[in-house]
Amino acid sequence: MNTELLHNQILDEVMGAAPVIPVIVIDRLEDALPLARALVAGGLRVLEVTLRTPAALGALRAMCSVPGAIVGAGTVLDAAQYDAAIRAGAQFVVSPGLTERLAMAARQRLVPLLPGTATASEVMRAREAGFTRLKFFPAESAGGVGALKSLCSVFRDVRFCPTGGITAASARAYLAVPQIVCVGGSWPMPAESIASGDWSRIEALAREASALRLPR
Ligand code: 3PG
Repeated sequence: MNTELLHNQILDEVMGAAPVIPVIVIDRLEDALPLARALVAGGLRVLEVTLRTPAALGALRAMCSVPGAIVGAGTVLDAAQYDAAIRAGAQFVVSPGLTERLAMAARQRLVPLLPGTATASEVMRAREAGFTRLKFFPAESAGGVGALKSLCSVFRDVRFCPTGGITAASARAYLAVPQIVCVGGSWPMPAESIASGDWSRIEALAREASALRLPR
């Protein structure tokens, strides 16, 4: 199987495993395990740990030990971060945009990349580079569900995961669009709940989010 097909197969499994991918910014390594356990217990199995904090790679590594969790790295900007994420156990990698160098790095690795796009030209460039599973970022400020529906109607072969500003209230409209396989967001784990260790609230929010998938 060629790399592009393998990557698409993995990404389809990741994107299809839950309707919402929690986009995690983690400050304290000790929060990683209880946070991941709460999210998975609530039905959100796919976890994106953003490489924005010093604790991120350690947190990603710790979360990989949670049964049922599918853990990836977010905010991956270059090949060095891509490799660091793989070494920590990432099963997928997410980037806010796409560069030629990052596309080349993805083609040379088994762990797939879900790159960000926000415009028709960016989707066209991503398709030319071999990517048809795309993040739509920053979703709400790039036009929201209306803009993404327009992109879906043009690019029929692309499957999207919008992220950026999506809430429990707005997620449903995105998920009603067949080409929008899942959405990403931070709303299931409010910063104050992480800070206070309120894991039962996070589990409850995750349970609500995991019930958002509409019957197809
Ligand atoms: C991000 O990159 O932080 C994600 O898009 C999540 O955004 P949100 O915090 O607006 O849900």
